[in-house]
Amino acid sequence: MTDLHVPHHIAIVMDGNGRWANKRFLPRIAGHKQGVDALKRCAKACDKRGVRVLTVFAFSSENWQRPSDEVSGLMDLFAFALSREVPQLKADGVQLRFIGERLGLSARVLKGIEQAEAETSSNNRLVLNVCFNYGGRWDIAQAAASLAVHGIPATDESLSQAMALAHVPDPDLVIRTGGELRISNFLLWQSAYSEFEFTSTLWPDFDEAALDAAIASYSGRERRFGKTSDQVQRGNPSASAA
Ligand code: IPE
Ligand code: IPE
Ligand code: MG
Repeated sequence: MTDLHVPHHIAIVMDGNGRWANKRFLPRIAGHKQGVDALKRCAKACDKRGVRVLTVFAFSSENWQRPSDEVSGLMDLFAFALSREVPQLKADGVQLRFIGERLGLSARVLKGIEQAEAETSSNNRLVLNVCFNYGGRWDIAQAAASLAVHGIPATDESLSQAMALAHVPDPDLVIRTGGELRISNFLLWQSAYSEFEFTSTLWPDFDEAALDAAIASYSGRERRFGKTSDQVQRGNPSASAA
């Protein structure tokens, strides 16, 4: 049997909460609540498998266009989940980071974000980046704007340094649940060489077995970064993902 290559950084578009709820004749927010539990399970499972960075898409720049009761329900749930979950995440060694535009978020949400970051900043088992009010285009634009303010020329390196995920390496594996085959403005810059895994499993149903299936699929791939297969095999005889 070949060795399993566990990704250092997994990023997830946590999609399908609304459909999970619809199938059960429940309000959409019930699906989002289940989604919080799925995220807790997933973070634990990632840590157990040696994943060091988990980045999740929780609320996109475009999700403001949803009906106002769903948006306010998501904001309330987010603030509530932070106050409820941070003590355990802190005890588990998780470092929480919030990625996205903070302008336009309520004082309550901002306070939750700042407290969670401050309380977990010295943790180093697993970095959990929560993309909230995030869009890949926003990130590229804010990085370019901050370089311009400082008169720094825009290069591959300088832009990477100015992006919101500069504190972690690019994701090795991007998973999207919920069956859609699109990126929906997630990590446009950082996923340049990520491996992709799409599953029809709805996010609240995403369990350890689903995570293992995604990791197994990733592990069997050859990441070539533009080179030929021969070059990759010669450079790294034990081969493939990692
Ligand atoms: C993803 O689930 C969570 C958010 C976008 C906040 P959805 O709410 O998009 O669920 P579906 O796609 O409608 O099933
Ligand atoms: C992407 O899901 C955003 C999050 C999971 C937070 P959406 O449900 O918003 O994506 P689209 O609208 O189907 O592309
Ligand atoms: Mg969706």
